[in-house]
Amino acid sequence: ENSGTDPKNLRVKLVLLGDSGVGKSCIVLRFVRGQFDPTSKVTVGASFLSQTLALEDSTTVKFEIWDTAGQERYAALAPLYYRGAGAAIVVYDITSSESFNKAQYWVKELQKHGSPDMIMALVGNKADLHDNRSVSSQDAQEYAERNTMFFIETSAKTADNINQLFEEIAKRLP
Ligand code: GTP
Ligand code: MG
Repeated sequence: ENSGTDPKNLRVKLVLLGDSGVGKSCIVLRFVRGQFDPTSKVTVGASFLSQTLALEDSTTVKFEIWDTAGQERYAALAPLYYRGAGAAIVVYDITSSESFNKAQYWVKELQKHGSPDMIMALVGNKADLHDNRSVSSQDAQEYAERNTMFFIETSAKTADNINQLFEEIAKRLP
């Protein structure tokens, strides 16, 4: 008989979506390897990485991460990666309103074609570049609330909020 307090081993398919150059691959590299690559190359097609996170209650979560390519020519491939995903991270760059518009496009696409119980995170990356900010935290927060997503600003460069992002997803898993 399970008392309901036993540590669990969970697994989730997670997809990252967002405009080219917003830092999706850098977020994944920071989370998985603890590194930052200022010369990160554009992703071709998609890349797969996995990482296991241990929570405070000793539950472990294995993230099976599909890091998609943001360039327009790959847009038609996205459904291959978000289909069956339990969680999605939609990324924009806080210095680019165009990338925030693109993020909203991906949110709509996930609402139309993703699974209805998908956990969705809206991520404003490059928070270290706050002096060049073009998307206000408040606008993004309000947009996220209206779309039942959680919102967080990160920096793959400084590592700010990267682990927190994945912890927040882990906490929301069924
Ligand atoms: P695609 O693969 O084309 O979809 O792009 P991407 O979203 O994977 O972007 P990538 O992670 O390759 O990062 C693009 C550029 O942004 C690189 O030059 C990174 O060094 C830079 N970058 C990524 N994250 C950050 C960050 O948090 N802060 C700063 N200042 N630069 C970042
Ligand atoms: Mg990439």
